[in-house]
Amino acid sequence: MKTISIICQKGGVGKTTAAVNLASIFSSFGIKTLIIDLDPQGNVSTYLNYDKTSGTYSDAIDLLEKKTVINPGKITENLDILSSNTNISKFNEEKIIGGSKLQQAFRNETLNDYEVIMIDTPPTMSSLVQEALSVSDYYLIPAKPEFLAVEGVAQAMEFAKKTIATIHNANPLFLGVLLNQIDKRRSSYTEFVSELEYLLSDKLLMTKISQTAEIADGPFYAKTVVDFKDESRSKIEYIELAKEILKKVGIHEEITEFSDNRH
Ligand SMILES: Nc1ncnc2c1ncn2[C@@H]1O[C@H](COP(=O)(O)OP(=O)(O)OP(=O)(O)O)[C@@H](O)[C@H]1O
Ligand SMILES: [Mg+2]
Repeated sequence: MKTISIICQKGGVGKTTAAVNLASIFSSFGIKTLIIDLDPQGNVSTYLNYDKTSGTYSDAIDLLEKKTVINPGKITENLDILSSNTNISKFNEEKIIGGSKLQQAFRNETLNDYEVIMIDTPPTMSSLVQEALSVSDYYLIPAKPEFLAVEGVAQAMEFAKKTIATIHNANPLFLGVLLNQIDKRRSSYTEFVSELEYLLSDKLLMTKISQTAEIADGPFYAKTVVDFKDESRSKIEYIELAKEILKKVGIHEEITEFSDNRH
């Protein structure tokens, strides 16, 4: 099981979009995937047209409350969800001392059934993000190609570093920065990318995601990139990104196998 958190205190950088679309692509590869929403906004549910109240299924609040039986909701055959809603905010007020709540919850064997767990987090530097980091093997920071993004990335990295230093047994690796909503026609683009490459070197992911109307409209139609046409630029980029990430987290072999099977 590999757990990947998507974090950044800056709002609207593409955390939820990346979490949902990556989870969706992974599951389409045949990888058993769980997406956990830790954001009170509950955007993952909206994106996937899933009921935020979660009904008879468990949600992320049950997980934080360390319920013994966890029964995630189903999106597709290989994609399950633990949704969130505003009630999760109460955990933001609790300081984490020693180990985290999720670390205990992750011992639940239901979670061990998943090959990949993606965690979407709120745009804050809060206990909920720390909870996410405490159970993650990796964390990913999305950024938009704009001047203030460098500062946003640096602050997110600093927050992750502090969290790792304070929470017992929290040791996620930095997967990298995902450049999202790029527009190569903008004059500042090349300069911006070279500055980021200089600062981050191999921690800037090779695959960058273009700004497209298709992605912007996706949540409206409850469509992820998997539902797009095969020639869609966003779908091609996201498949490339998913492969790059799987390789970095060591699930490369399986993916090659799956792509071979599909031909
Ligand atoms: N590559 C893209 N092309 C076009 N629109 C995009 C792209 N990525 C994200 N968006 C849009 O940008 C907006 C913000 O994205 P998203 O909600 O994923 O960000 P976020 O970081 O999760 O925000 P928050 O911090 O509020 O949780 C959304 O309307 C989304 O549809
Ligand atoms: Mg979000």
